[in-house]
Amino acid sequence: MTQEIAVLSTKPEMAVESPAVRKVFVKTYGCQMNVYDSDRMTDALAKDGYVSTDVIEDADLVLLNTCHIREKAAEKVYSALGRLRDLKKKKASEGREMMIGVAGCVAQAEGDEILRRAPAVDLVIGPQTYHRLPEALKRVQRGERVLETDYAVEDKFEHLPAPDKAKTRARGVTAFLTVQEGCDKFCTFCVVPYTRGSEVSRPVAQIVAEAQKLVDAGVREITLLGQNVNAWHGAGPDDEKWGLGELLHRLTKIEGLARLRYTTSHPRDMDDSLIAAHRDLKQLMPYLHLPIQSGSNRILKAMNRRHTTAEYIALIARIKAARPDLALSGDFIVGFPGETDEDFEDTLRLVETVGYAQAFSFKYSTRPGTPGADLEDQVPEDVKAKRLERLQALLLSQQNAFAQACIGKTIDLLLEKPGRMPGQLIGRSPWLQSVNVDAKSSQIGDIVSVRITGAGPNSLFAEVVS
Ligand code: SAH
Ligand code: SF4
Ligand code: F3S
Repeated sequence: MTQEIAVLSTKPEMAVESPAVRKVFVKTYGCQMNVYDSDRMTDALAKDGYVSTDVIEDADLVLLNTCHIREKAAEKVYSALGRLRDLKKKKASEGREMMIGVAGCVAQAEGDEILRRAPAVDLVIGPQTYHRLPEALKRVQRGERVLETDYAVEDKFEHLPAPDKAKTRARGVTAFLTVQEGCDKFCTFCVVPYTRGSEVSRPVAQIVAEAQKLVDAGVREITLLGQNVNAWHGAGPDDEKWGLGELLHRLTKIEGLARLRYTTSHPRDMDDSLIAAHRDLKQLMPYLHLPIQSGSNRILKAMNRRHTTAEYIALIARIKAARPDLALSGDFIVGFPGETDEDFEDTLRLVETVGYAQAFSFKYSTRPGTPGADLEDQVPEDVKAKRLERLQALLLSQQNAFAQACIGKTIDLLLEKPGRMPGQLIGRSPWLQSVNVDAKSSQIGDIVSVRITGAGPNSLFAEVVS
């Protein structure tokens, strides 16, 4: 995902007036936290006169914000770096300099290797040190190759500037807000505890201030982010212990904030107050991403998920009792080491039992440095591929059935952005589906009542009801 288009004046006198304008092209891979981070890095650079561009050839700085979760994700970075090396050479022959920076989880995990394998890279910066980016670039301009991957002792969020009003508005009426970073769960397949470090929660006041700023700039829906968002904890005004449920309560007090979501949550951290928030807060959307990864207790144990399928099913029953219209989403991994046909059948059975409105599924990818990489009994690629195909067919049929069941319903739709056809807008249903509807662009940011009239493969169609 690239950043928003730079709004640059083409007037020649402007170029003379602001010779310091430099352009940054940011390419974001991976999860929503990287999307949030890319915006924060762009904001940090704005202070030094950088504006975003979506034309890579125009960029003075190209930043790749990378993901290390699966092998394919990491490989993408090296092939992108190959292309960038050629572009850098071409631009140098035209007398223009282009800096290349690698940020994100690959930077954190393989910083030294990036510098070794990709000599064109000027800067490697890990997710915990983004607030040092402007300073690091100055060092690059002095001729250094910079590796900045130590965990910072200071709170980066306190040093990262919040976006200004105009920028926030340009980014739209929905926004991400990271409230928690890192993970202490150490699932045996996962790199996140190593790339993002241990669990840290941002303080309540910092989160509320950022949310208020977003809302003041016109944001209507905020999605709270964390690798383990429901492990968030903090202190309330009288120093009482707060969990995510209490934080959500506090955020609903912000006038004009119409919708709240959070992702990604771990089943072990769904506490009573968070479940009650689903019952009590009308702003909290009835949609929950609650991954289980496998339907086999044997595999869950080997993955170190530390709960059983029965506990997961019972938990979902409790959440649905609190919020009956709640739709579920999940993540699955097929072919974890030692997964037998029987284990995989258990996963299919679990999916049948739970029923997902949406889900993401992946072939297990061996990640260096994780305990899973050392396990014997790695599952052959062709077996993983066949299992993934079967699982995805089942999940897709559930997704389609969920969409079909929406037809005829009247729902609230948050109008987000122009649609593909003139006169059309795209909005989000409470269950995170894209919905196309005829509406005026002046209505962006409004929540309107619509009746669902049809369902396509990736989105719904609706008409406004008066
Ligand atoms: N914190 C979240 C997951 C974050 S990673 C949780 O605990 O559920 C996002 C998803 O990527 C995971 O849910 C998992 O399905 C997938 N994933 C992580 N590591 C993987 C690996 N080594 N191979 C394949 N998929 C993986
Ligand atoms: Fe990775 Fe999520 Fe497990 Fe943490 S809880 S180790 S982020 S899969
Ligand atoms: Fe990828 Fe890092 Fe997110 S590994 S999924 S970008 S936390």
